Amino acid sequence: MSARTAVITGGANGIGLAIARRFLAAEFNVVIADVDDQALDAARALDAGRLVTVVADVGDPEAMERVRRVAVDAFGSVEVLCANAGIGGSSPVSAAADLDRWHRVWDVNVFGVVHSINAFLPELRASGGHIFITASRTGLVATPYTGAYGASKFAVVALGEMLAAELAEAGDDVAVTLLCPGAVRTELASHGAAGADADPRQAAVHAERWKTAISADELAEHVHHALTTRQRYVITHPVTIDWMRDRLEAVAEDARRGPTVVGES
Ligand SMILES: NC(=O)c1ccc[n+]([C@@H]2O[C@H](COP(=O)([O-])OP(=O)(O)OC[C@H]3O[C@@H](n4cnc5c(N)ncnc54)[C@H](O)[C@@H]3O)[C@@H](O)[C@H]2O)c1
Repeated sequence: MSARTAVITGGANGIGLAIARRFLAAEFNVVIADVDDQALDAARALDAGRLVTVVADVGDPEAMERVRRVAVDAFGSVEVLCANAGIGGSSPVSAAADLDRWHRVWDVNVFGVVHSINAFLPELRASGGHIFITASRTGLVATPYTGAYGASKFAVVALGEMLAAELAEAGDDVAVTLLCPGAVRTELASHGAAGADADPRQAAVHAERWKTAISADELAEHVHHALTTRQRYVITHPVTIDWMRDRLEAVAEDARRGPTVVGES
């Protein structure tokens, strides 16, 4: 049996569940932490020997500390953290902000990642491990009508990039990979905050995205591949790179027009 252990938040459904299946197939021990106890019950059928499930809310730092204790008690060490739990909750920024929704989305999508890193970084430093953060393409290129969700994904991309730089500077052998998929066929929208996709323009943007959706298993295969390459970004849809290039060129073009560019450096 492999000594390696992966902890996956939000692993009871969708992308997290596919990643759990992929890691189990690769002989990892797996710990799934999720708020959905019914889906956790179903997930337990995946494996009786190397899978532990924990009901835990990533928005609660004490709950994440409990997940760490459960993982270490069960398997001794942790080599991989997948900070994957997330909820939808898109809305136009130009509409009056539903503050409850903004807080809910940020509590899970941003603070959930912060709490997961806080709880597991010491273990990962000790094991020379790997952190996967499920961000999104909407964290690399601003997507109108994604509001709280899109902004939360930009925040976790920045968080992951800063973490990687800090770890490298400290000489810590911990890899950081940001998952930046386009659409993935899961139930994210129906699990999302109430009111998501209420705006017809927003629904049209999402319908367009769905045309190129990939399966969660395909993304899980990318994740498993990134374990060996230790690459910083997993980009599933090549058009993302074109959009990023367009964005950067627009920024550079604007900078050249104003007095913001001083000297040559
Ligand atoms: N589906 C997509 O198109 C897509 C695209 C890019 C990024 N993502 C991201 O992928 C991740 C997984 O989403 P998914 O598409 O598999 O959706 P999903 O709804 O199928 O799965 C999300 C899981 O997170 C769990 N969860 C929600 N809140 C939680 C909390 N507070 N604590 C612990 N667990 C919690 C849910 O119970 C669920 O099991 C999310 O971060 C999402 O933003 C999804």
